[in-house]
Amino acid sequence: MVLSNRLTSLGVSPHRKLADFVYQLKLKGVRVISFAAGQPGVPPYEGAVKALAEALEKDPYKVSSYGPSAGLPALREAIAEDIRDAGGPDLAPEDVTVVSGGLDGLQLVLSALTDPGDRVVVPEPAYGMYEYVSKFLRLKVEVCPQPSENGFQPDAECVAESLRNGAKAVIIASPDNPTGRVADRGVLKAIAEAAQESGAYLIYDEAYRYIYYEGSHYYLARDYPEVVIGVGSFSKDLAIPGFRLGFVYGPKEVITGVRRLKGILGICASVPAQYAAATGLRDPGFKDYLRRVLDIYRSRRDAAYNALKKYLPEVGAYLPKAAMYIFADFRPYLEKLGVDDVKFAFDLAEKKHVVMVPGQAFGALGKGFMRVTFVTQDEATIEEGIKQIAEYLREAGAL
Ligand SMILES: Cc1ncc(COP(=O)(O)O)c(C=O)c1O
Repeated sequence: MVLSNRLTSLGVSPHRKLADFVYQLKLKGVRVISFAAGQPGVPPYEGAVKALAEALEKDPYKVSSYGPSAGLPALREAIAEDIRDAGGPDLAPEDVTVVSGGLDGLQLVLSALTDPGDRVVVPEPAYGMYEYVSKFLRLKVEVCPQPSENGFQPDAECVAESLRNGAKAVIIASPDNPTGRVADRGVLKAIAEAAQESGAYLIYDEAYRYIYYEGSHYYLARDYPEVVIGVGSFSKDLAIPGFRLGFVYGPKEVITGVRRLKGILGICASVPAQYAAATGLRDPGFKDYLRRVLDIYRSRRDAAYNALKKYLPEVGAYLPKAAMYIFADFRPYLEKLGVDDVKFAFDLAEKKHVVMVPGQAFGALGKGFMRVTFVTQDEATIEEGIKQIAEYLREAGAL
């Protein structure tokens, strides 16, 4: 065995296997309707692209140089200001560290807080990387439910009990991937208070903090600054996932630790990306861009939800108030087919060239569900894809 046990014990997620399968289909020239990616459905904010092009033109040496591990001061200032203006905590630039995307932030925070053998709590179904990263760091993952019957709200009592029993941290995304739910303030507060009483941390994944169709983001760190560590991303709002840029803010000792680790493990986040985001975030045009994008996404969300209801009447689905996904309950159809969500996802991709991510990619509690990303296709394609799913089920005698 050449590879580490730490790596090989992780296994390969159904999400990854499905992506490889779809890639092979596309290589053969097959037209695929994919509801699978976590990719924004629009090009990046023009102001950010322009800022990067101008900075590179003006001083390519500086823009291509190493930067500080904490991130460029201009970007940290812009992030602190942006969070403050959006109703979040009153941060100083020193309270913020720039990282290479939300996932990098998550890894660094967990690495800074835990030792092998420590426990973390994850309400599931959840973004699959929480479990992977935790397992890679040799942490024990304690799963609490966030069931569909409860609008995917985390079971606060279950989380609180794990924290009281010594878990080091809980990871919660709001708005959430894959469920699209926005966590209730009361639930978040109850969990933050349990963390406070137990000396634990609440890692608050805010990757979708600007992707709201109703309401706006609650910055939990404003009320619980000692225990909440915010993990942000520019992948979804500025729509620059390939730039790999995000940020972490929170208690000083944690942020200092994250910064040290960033220096050791990655030196600094992409400097060109930081030039793009520093200007983009401050640009007045950014909020207009967000409004335009959210209008597009809202219309696609409605198209996906309406088509699910129309063509697949037994599917259970909520109209999400935020994020980019509908986490649809396919159990009535899967029971008739006699297959689980993973097999269904592969069969559907093979026979109808329509792709959804099986719920088990988000933990065992996602079994029987399918994640539908609604932002990457136009309304007509969304409807066509969902009709294809219905046709597959009809042909198989389940509809
Ligand atoms: C909930 C959540 N957190 C974090 C990430 C990671 O985003 P990135 O590393 O691109 O910032 C994603 C990506 O889809 C996500 O859905």
